[in-house]
Amino acid sequence: MPHFISLADISAIDLRAILDDAHAMKAARKGQPKGSTDPTPALNGDTLAMIFEKASTRTRFSFEQGMRQLGGTSIVAGAQDMQLGRGESVADTARVLSRFVDAVMIRSNAHSTITDFAANADIPVINGLSDHNHPCQIMADLMTLEERGVKLSSATLAWIGDGNNVLASFVNAAPAFGYQLRISSPAAYSLEGNPKTAGLIAAAVARGATILNDLSPDDAANGADALITDCWVSMGDTDKDERIAALTPYQIDAARLAKAAEGATFLHCLPAYREQEMTTEVLEGPQSAVWDEAENRLHAQKAVVKWCLGAG
Ligand code: CP
Ligand code: NVA
Repeated sequence: MPHFISLADISAIDLRAILDDAHAMKAARKGQPKGSTDPTPALNGDTLAMIFEKASTRTRFSFEQGMRQLGGTSIVAGAQDMQLGRGESVADTARVLSRFVDAVMIRSNAHSTITDFAANADIPVINGLSDHNHPCQIMADLMTLEERGVKLSSATLAWIGDGNNVLASFVNAAPAFGYQLRISSPAAYSLEGNPKTAGLIAAAVARGATILNDLSPDDAANGADALITDCWVSMGDTDKDERIAALTPYQIDAARLAKAAEGATFLHCLPAYREQEMTTEVLEGPQSAVWDEAENRLHAQKAVVKWCLGAG
C-alpha cells in the first residue's frame, strides 16, 4: 500500500517523480480559475477523507482544493466530532473509512495514530503532520527551492531554530534528494534531545545523507542556499516561555540572512510569529519565498495523492 507517512520510507525515484509531477501540474493549469479541474484531471470521483486532531489552515484548504482540481472530492472531519473522540478505536475507524473513501489524510497528535490507522486500513494514508514529522510540507518546500533555481543535489540547506517535526522531515528526505543539511538548534530543543525523533539523523546519515548537526546559528547560515525555520512553539508544546528564552539566539534576522549565499531563499512553513523565529524584515523581504511555499502545498499534495492512488 503506498502510504505517504514518512519520507524515510519512500524511494528517491518516487519522491523525484512526485516533485516532477507537481511542477508539471502547476505549469499546466496556470491562469485557470482556482476551483476548476485540471486540463487533464487525474482522478474521476476519488474521495480523500481528512481527519484533524489539530488546527490547520494550509493543509486543509490545499488538500480540499487539490482534490477538486484533480477531479476528486474530499470529506473533512475534526477527530472530536467523530466517534474517535468518544473512544472508538483508530483500527475500527480505519476499517470503516476504507469502505467509504479512497485515501485518508490524518493530522494527529501522536504519530502512532497514523501508523495504527495505516496498519488497519485497506487504502493509502497520508501524514498531514504528526509530532514526528510533516512530509507534505517538505515536498512543497523542495518544490519552492527548485522553482527558485536551487539544484537540490548540490544545495546546502540550513535549519536554524526548533528541532521539530518539520526539521525531522528535512532529515528524512536528505538521502533521497542529496542536499547537505545543516542544523542549529539549542540542545534542549534538538531532534536528538527529543525521544520521539532521536536517531533520525543517524538513520539518514546511514542512508547516505550529509548532515552537520549542532552548529551555531551563524555557522549554519554561512554560505547556505536556504535558511529555514519554523515557529518556536508547536501545537501541543506547553513550555512556551522556556522555548522562547532558549530559542531567542536562533532568530533569523537580516544580518544572519546576509551570511547565507547571495540570493539565498528564506523558507517557513507558516504560521509565522514575527519578531520571534524571524524578523518581519526577513519574512517580508525579497529573499522570502513563504507565500510561494504555501501555494506549493497545493501542487505538491496533488502529486502525493496521485502517487498514493496510482494515478501519477
Ligand atoms: N504549514 C502548515 O501545515 O500549515 P497549517 O497548520 O495551516 O496546515
Ligand atoms: N511545527 C509546527 C508546524 C505547523 C504547521 C507545529 O507542529 O505546530
